[in-house]
Amino acid sequence: MKKILVTGGAGFIGSHLCERLLKDGHEVICVDNYFTGSKRNIVHLLDNPYFELIRHDITSPFYIEVDEIYNLACPASPVNYQYNPIKTVKTSVMGAVNMLGLAKRIKAKILQASTSEVYGDPSVHPQPESYWGNVNPIGRRSCYDEGKRCAETLFMDYYYQNHVKIKIVRIFNTYGPRMHPNDGRVVTNFIMQALAGKDLTVYGNGKQTRSFQYIDDLVEGLIRMMNTPDEVTGPINIGNPEELKMIDLAEKIIRLTNSESKIIYHPKPSDDPAQRQPDISLARKVLKWEPTTGLEEGLKDTIEYFRQFITTES
Ligand SMILES: NC(=O)c1ccc[n+]([C@@H]2O[C@H](COP(=O)([O-])OP(=O)(O)OC[C@H]3O[C@@H](n4cnc5c(N)ncnc54)[C@H](O)[C@@H]3O)[C@@H](O)[C@H]2O)c1
Repeated sequence: MKKILVTGGAGFIGSHLCERLLKDGHEVICVDNYFTGSKRNIVHLLDNPYFELIRHDITSPFYIEVDEIYNLACPASPVNYQYNPIKTVKTSVMGAVNMLGLAKRIKAKILQASTSEVYGDPSVHPQPESYWGNVNPIGRRSCYDEGKRCAETLFMDYYYQNHVKIKIVRIFNTYGPRMHPNDGRVVTNFIMQALAGKDLTVYGNGKQTRSFQYIDDLVEGLIRMMNTPDEVTGPINIGNPEELKMIDLAEKIIRLTNSESKIIYHPKPSDDPAQRQPDISLARKVLKWEPTTGLEEGLKDTIEYFRQFITTES
């Protein structure tokens, strides 16, 4: 049994990770400031004696003895990370410094939840880890993109300079139950609109593509990465390479929800990448990992979650 700290553990990804780590027989300490996360996401874990919940903001130092740290704390969707961009940078950068300092002191392994956003609007397609990205340093998304890039730098420097056992995972779009219903991300928007019988808003002409991985596949990838030998630092992409046009996603969700909704078109926001698709050769080779959940299967679970969410909230 390992003692594992999960920052951002009350969020979408963190709550699934906490659940899985407990299931695997570990003791889990979840730290969160509840900015975008909620107790609702982890309420089912509170009776477990091996689960501990601590309200804490990782921009302040935190002291504890653990074997492993998963650093997930950071708002992940534009509406949330643009709400207070300075705080977003602080969470990524000061949060990384605080958690790396902790890992150094207690000799714990630490994994950083980085993001495909470090590739910005990529000129290489699909994106391998060796691609350095095309990021606007002064745009509305920069607080997130550059914060995460700086966090990667800090992780590598703690590895080179202090020999901290670090792991960096670049997460691509992930969906599943417990996504925030108002996060403004495309899967959530479409499902909430379809369930409410409202028109589905497609930005641009709908031909821009994204790839979506299901939450359980991501959690499996995170754990495999944490369990790699010390010399494996990453970054390693974790995502689903299957590309999908936004218009096709909208149609699929309308069908799966049996909705009468129509599709309407709005102008594309600035800095919105036209394409983003992971090259997961490294994950396949090093982690023996690839996504296994089909889009339709994952969407059905997610739709069911939102249906229940709407019923219990209303
Ligand atoms: N969801 C995705 O598709 C995706 C893609 C790439 C990377 N990521 C990364 O994965 C991580 C988790 O994302 P998510 O989708 O679960 O987002 P989320 O917003 O649901 O979860 C983030 C959690 O961190 C907490 N948090 C935020 N700032 C904090 C702070 N200063 N101190 C303590 N807790 C804080 C929030 O309250 C929330 O519970 C993030 O680091 C995100 O950047 C997510």
